[in-house]
Amino acid sequence: MNSLYAAPRQQDLSLDEFWMPFTANRQFKDRPRLLESAEGMFYTDVEGRQIIDGTSGLWCCNAGHGRQEITEAVARQLSKMDFAPTFQMGHPLPFQLAERLVDIAPEGLNRVFFTNSGSESVDTALKIALAYHRARGEGTRTRLIGRELGYHGVGFGGISVGGMVNNRKAFGVQLPGVDHLPHTLDLERNAFSRGLPKQGAEFADHLERLVNLHGAENIAAVIVEPMSGSAGVILPPQGYLKRLREITRKHGILLIFDEVITGFGRVGSPFAAQRWEVIPDIMTTAKGLTNGVIPMGAVFASETIQDAFMHGPDGIIELFHGYTYSGHPVAAAAALATLDIYARDGLLTRIRELEIYWQEGLHSLKGLPHVIDIRNTGMVGAVHLASRDGAPGKRGYDVFEACFWDGLMVRNSGDIIAMAPPLIVEKSHIDQIINTLGDVIRRIA
Ligand SMILES: Cc1ncc(COP(=O)(O)O)c(C=O)c1O
Repeated sequence: MNSLYAAPRQQDLSLDEFWMPFTANRQFKDRPRLLESAEGMFYTDVEGRQIIDGTSGLWCCNAGHGRQEITEAVARQLSKMDFAPTFQMGHPLPFQLAERLVDIAPEGLNRVFFTNSGSESVDTALKIALAYHRARGEGTRTRLIGRELGYHGVGFGGISVGGMVNNRKAFGVQLPGVDHLPHTLDLERNAFSRGLPKQGAEFADHLERLVNLHGAENIAAVIVEPMSGSAGVILPPQGYLKRLREITRKHGILLIFDEVITGFGRVGSPFAAQRWEVIPDIMTTAKGLTNGVIPMGAVFASETIQDAFMHGPDGIIELFHGYTYSGHPVAAAAALATLDIYARDGLLTRIRELEIYWQEGLHSLKGLPHVIDIRNTGMVGAVHLASRDGAPGKRGYDVFEACFWDGLMVRNSGDIIAMAPPLIVEKSHIDQIINTLGDVIRRIA
C-alpha cells in the first residue's frame, strides 16, 4: 500500500484533535482501541489482533466487511460521475434504487426519500408527517409522540421524540409539543424471555391516555423503533405493535417505525414491519442500506402520503426539504450493490435458520454473575447486568472493554451488553462470541 495512505502506528498518531462522537474521549485516549482493517466477520486492530465483530460495526455492516462487489460499484461510479444534484435535476441511480427498495419494502410503502443518515431520516419523517397533515387541512396536528428509551438519532427532532436522558438533558429546550409513551422494558414480568416477551401489550394503551390528554386532532404522529436497539435491545411485547397500529389508525395519527437498526434483515425479514406484521405509514432506514460503506438513509412513505402533497400548480416544489447529498450517486451505487448481495445470498431472511442457535447460546449465559436478563430476537441479543452500587454503567463498560481486548466487539448501553453480528455469521462465530462474553463476565463482572 502507498505509505502516504497507510494508517500511522498508534505511537505516531496524535489523538488530540479528533473530538470523538459518543465517546469518553479522555478515557479512550488513555488506551485507544484502534481498528485498521476488516474482512468478513473480523476486524484487525493496529497491533494486528483479530476482533470478531459482534455488532456489525455499529449495527450497519449486515453483509459483513470488505464486500468486493460494493467496493467495485463505488469505484466504478466514482470514475463515471462523482456527484450530481437531485434538486430540480436528477440522475438514474436514485430512481433505480428507490424502485429496488420498494420491491422489498412492507406493502404499500412505495415512495422513498433519500437522506444521509438515520438522524436525517428521522427528522425527514417527522417533517413529512407534519406537512402531510397540513397539506390535508389538518394543520392542528402538530404534536409528536415518541417513547421513553427510544433512540432516533441526534437531530433536534430526533432527541425530542427520543427518550434516552443523556442524549437530551444537556441541550436545553427541544421541540415543543412532544410527549412520550412508556417504554416496554419489564424485568419483573419478562426477564429471560426467549424472543418477544409475552407480557406488556397494554403498554400501547397509554397512547389512548395521551389522545385523551391532548386531543387526537392535535397529534400528528407516533414514532417508535419496532425494537429499541441503542437503549439496550428492548423488545416489543407480543401484540404491542399491533395495538399501537390500531390506536393510531383509529385516531388518524400517523405511525412511524424507525427501522434504522431493524431494517435490512436484522430480525429475519427485510424489515421488522414484515416480521411482526404491522405496517406503519412511514418508515426510516439508514445503516444497512449501504452495508455501512457510504453514508445514506432512506425514508419510506405510502403513496397516499405523497399524494397529499401533489396539489397546486405543476411548477411548485411540493416539499421544501432535502439534502445536497440526497440520492448521492456513489451512495446509491453502494446501496444497489448491497441489495444485490442481500438478494443473492438471501441475507434478508437468512438468520431465521440461525436465530434459535443464537438464542440458545445467549440464554446459556443465564446464571452467570450479575446477569439479570437476557433478551433476543432475530440476530440481536442483549445481556443485562446488574449495576454496581453507586456506579451505573461501570460494570457494562468493563465488560465491553475486556471483551475488546479478548477479541470480541460488543456495545454497552449502560450495564446492558448489546450484540448484533453480521448476517453472514456462522455457528462457529456464534460459539466464539458467546464463549468470549461468558469468560469475560465470569472474570470481570
Ligand atoms: C433507531 C435509530 N434511529 C436513528 C439512528 C441515528 O442514525 P445515525 O447515527 O446514522 O444518524 C440510530 C442510530 O443508531 C438508530 O438506532
